[in-house]
Amino acid sequence: MLSLVVALSAVLATGLAQTATTRFPDGFMLGAATAAYQIEGAWNEDGKGESIQDHFYHNYPLLGLNSTGDVACDSYHKYKEDVQMLKDINADVYRFSISWPRVLPTGDLDVINQAGIDYYNNLINELLANGIQPLVTMYHWDLPQALQYLGGWPNELMVDYFVEYARILFENFGDRVKWWITFNEPAVFVSWYAAIGMAPSQNASGIGDYLSTHTLLKAHARVWHLYDEQYRATQNGSVGITLNIEGLEPATNSTEDAEASDRARQFQMGIYAHPIYSAEGDYPAVVRERVDANSAAEGRPRSRLPSFTREEVDYIRGSADFIGLNHYSTDFVTSGVTGISPSKTRDSGVITSYNEAVPWGFRSLLNWIASEYPGYPIFVTENGLRNSGGRNDTDRIDYYIGFLGALLEAVNVDRVPVIGYTTWTLMDNVEWSLGTRAKFGLYEVDFSSPNLTRTPKESAGFIAEVYGSRELPQQYFR
Ligand code: NOJ
Repeated sequence: MLSLVVALSAVLATGLAQTATTRFPDGFMLGAATAAYQIEGAWNEDGKGESIQDHFYHNYPLLGLNSTGDVACDSYHKYKEDVQMLKDINADVYRFSISWPRVLPTGDLDVINQAGIDYYNNLINELLANGIQPLVTMYHWDLPQALQYLGGWPNELMVDYFVEYARILFENFGDRVKWWITFNEPAVFVSWYAAIGMAPSQNASGIGDYLSTHTLLKAHARVWHLYDEQYRATQNGSVGITLNIEGLEPATNSTEDAEASDRARQFQMGIYAHPIYSAEGDYPAVVRERVDANSAAEGRPRSRLPSFTREEVDYIRGSADFIGLNHYSTDFVTSGVTGISPSKTRDSGVITSYNEAVPWGFRSLLNWIASEYPGYPIFVTENGLRNSGGRNDTDRIDYYIGFLGALLEAVNVDRVPVIGYTTWTLMDNVEWSLGTRAKFGLYEVDFSSPNLTRTPKESAGFIAEVYGSRELPQQYFR
């Protein structure tokens, strides 16, 4: 009898545990993400200024592989359709970005473009009328070209320009927007100050990227403090930054590869996260030491990575309410020196041996972030699969099954404090220089039709079911 009771309670416990693992916790936000340049089009309409993306794709068509976001998905005119699609997938949050030059065409406050402000007001109001929370990225790579003429992010003057832009956003939209992201994927956009190929295509390897990093960390902190001191009491929202990181697992079980994996994480995410989210602040020690040592060996009088003053370290530390995370796949890494000199890759002393989209890499990464930066909620702001198109996208459904399962295990079993998830992306769009050829969307966009007709793929139906039931059925857990 006793054994029967024990057996029965074991079965019940497993059953309960399974139910708990499959469900998103109450209040967990589910939705989809996009970015202005990739969907809006209307690149020069109603007073919008030129961005570095407009400039790059118009002036360097060969480098940009003939891509352009001039029209994109025409969301500038079709935002109501976008919102309807979000409603159809049962989204409760929409991550989109504001185009800085649509609001401030010169980047400065000399011209405030009311038509741009109206557009985002209309979008925000339409979202809220449909019960969808806006999650707004302030900077998804479209710097006003007028500011690039001043040097762009390597120039510390950008801090003031960015803070002034952020104030315009809080003033105009902060009554309704409660979730803000200052920067999207700094590791990626600073890399285009270190190499040719994407805007602004400045070839200052191992220098322009670190200078930009230094500027944007200061800009991020200033914007968080601005919100904290002047807007939080009345607007009551949250401000974070979105960092991208792959799964960066050691390729073998050697100590060298374990250290390489940690170094890779510090060079990719820690360089941004450590100053903001760690208890001690500042750049990670391993990054500081390696860049300083290489700079000295190159005969330079100063490190290529600038230093913060003590006051700046204290000011930046703690300047966020949550961690935004973009994650797609896992790189397997090994120790070794590669990359041109100077370069961030060479400084890191890490070689990527291969890459795979493995859900366990996501779970492992979420656990690493939670232990490295305790106390901060994590919002997964991008995750998704690229393919070459088609509505019968079972590969994408398979990807989401794996990654949502890993996410739920991290949340419900490992107790990683993830609070939201927005898939990349709502609809096929302009994947930077890959153009509209690369497809990430839950909806197909017919780029050859004048209406840019949107049609749900099978993955849209799958996501709608998961979001609607707030559960990933047990059968999908492997
Ligand atoms: C990262 C970027 O934030 C987004 O703009 C891009 O389209 C996706 N990931 C997919 O590459």
